[in-house]
Amino acid sequence: MPTLEIRDLHVSVETKEGPKPILRGVDLTIASGETHAIMGPNGSGKSTLASALAGHPKYTVTSGTVTLDGEDLLAMTVDERARAGLFLAMQYPVEVTGVSVANFLRTAKTAIDGTAPALRTWGKEVKGAMENLRMDPAFAERSVNEGFSGGEKKRHEILQMELFKPRFAILDETDSGLDVDALRIVSEGVNRAKENTEVGVLLITHYTRILRYIKPDFVHVFVDGKIAEEGGSELADRLEEEGYDKYVGANATATA
Ligand SMILES: Nc1ncnc2c1ncn2[C@@H]1O[C@H](COP(=O)(O)OP(=O)(O)OP(=O)(O)O)[C@@H](O)[C@H]1O
Ligand SMILES: [Mg+2]
Repeated sequence: MPTLEIRDLHVSVETKEGPKPILRGVDLTIASGETHAIMGPNGSGKSTLASALAGHPKYTVTSGTVTLDGEDLLAMTVDERARAGLFLAMQYPVEVTGVSVANFLRTAKTAIDGTAPALRTWGKEVKGAMENLRMDPAFAERSVNEGFSGGEKKRHEILQMELFKPRFAILDETDSGLDVDALRIVSEGVNRAKENTEVGVLLITHYTRILRYIKPDFVHVFVDGKIAEEGGSELADRLEEEGYDKYVGANATATA
């Protein structure tokens, strides 16, 4: 069974003052079909983990290993990681002026699969996926994320997930800024992908409300660059009630 295995991962970010250590020994194994939720205070390193896995050049792995299906993920370029089946829905999706959504989706799908999708079926697939996510067809002709509302950007991330069919998807606060209807629609998209493709999901969130729609098999508490506790979905409820005080040192600057 395909697995994403993170072992004792240490990551620094490049800053003007030099490298700053953020991740301090992350251990996490995600098997195909599993959903893992990560919750933790602001600034604890959740997005850094997502960026490091995706291969963002600003983040340097100083020690540890990550394998996807036994292959060394860290030795791969960003596009090799995508071709290996890794997908990241970003916390802050970037705007790409002059590249239409339709063009972007087709180009990315071609790059990931190694062959262009069949024209006739692809058009239908995109249209159907957009309908499912209640996205106006006019979005296909707009520049990627340009002028999209926060919630529209998040839907566009899940549209990509449904179309690219990754083996592992990291969803970084895909629920933030969604209205109640959009939260349900986006969650349904994730659940469809789970049913259709056995994708393994790493869901970074601050709120238990998305976990009522997307049931996590495991919940991890992320504090100060590593996992402080693991449990089932009951752990998420407890965190929402109690906060992160018991995990955060008296001198910590985190503001959950
Ligand atoms: N490029 C950078 N330069 C300086 N510091 C950085 C940089 N990138 C990340 N950091 C720092 O690393 C820490 C972790 O940031 P990260 O974005 O991973 O947190 P997070 O857990 O995702 O927080 P949030 O819940 O607010 O999204 C923060 O203190 C942040 O300021
Ligand atoms: Mg973040």
